[in-house]
Amino acid sequence: MYGDNKIRRNTVRDIIKLKGKRPVVSLTAYTAPMAAALDPHVDFLLVGDSLAMVLYGMDSTIGVSLETMIEHTKAVMRGSRKAMVILDMPFGSFEESPEQAFRNAARVLRETGCAAVKLEGGAAMADTINYLVERNIPVMAHIGLRPQAVHVMGGYRTQGKNQAECDRMFEDAMAVQKAGAFSVVLEGITEPVATEITEKLDIVTIGIGASANCDGQILVVEDMLGYFPSNARFVKRYAEVGQTIDEAVSQYANDVKARSFPAAEHTYKT
Ligand code: KIV
Repeated sequence: MYGDNKIRRNTVRDIIKLKGKRPVVSLTAYTAPMAAALDPHVDFLLVGDSLAMVLYGMDSTIGVSLETMIEHTKAVMRGSRKAMVILDMPFGSFEESPEQAFRNAARVLRETGCAAVKLEGGAAMADTINYLVERNIPVMAHIGLRPQAVHVMGGYRTQGKNQAECDRMFEDAMAVQKAGAFSVVLEGITEPVATEITEKLDIVTIGIGASANCDGQILVVEDMLGYFPSNARFVKRYAEVGQTIDEAVSQYANDVKARSFPAAEHTYKT
């Protein structure tokens, strides 16, 4: 079903070139059919570790394995042909050492065919980012609110509300750029800080809850489709898919109970 059409994907260079031209459009995707639906509209697809919560019903992103991320990335690659695909390195797969990060990121690129990895962390991950980039693995960094750090951050809190947090965010942004990241996700960051970081950096900033002033935007697709119960202020619901499913399934249940489904046209007579 998938992959019959010619594949011509955006590259890291294509994404870099958009800075200052037009906003980068991106969404998360975890499955082939969703990737196929999003592919014509986005510059890149992120196989986010948010799938731990959105698909697997976990309480946080901490529990997802590299193997799971790899299988979902293969599905997203099969479903898309234009978007660049990025895998989100899960908790525990890159923090131990640059060597561990390289081993796992190289496996990701080899087994999935995706073009880049994302990893959470700023200055503390700069050596690791540099190690990967020097060895031909493009890296998108992720600073501000870092869901994998939920236990040390004490919850999911907007960042940049006091001077110490602002200073740390600038340090993180500068450090990941210097280390060679081609882009950085700014999550849950106040508008003035996100704006200044975006202006100061040469690399592409991708915002999620970080204002319209970033170089691009990303959302968890189930959030914006109304298919996951998010009450985050930064999510705009473009559809109410959850409600549509509820109505359709309720109609199906009524039809089955009334024996009006299957009807004659759904029935093999001979
Ligand atoms: O895991 C994820 O989905 C993410 C983003 C939405 C940036 O990290």
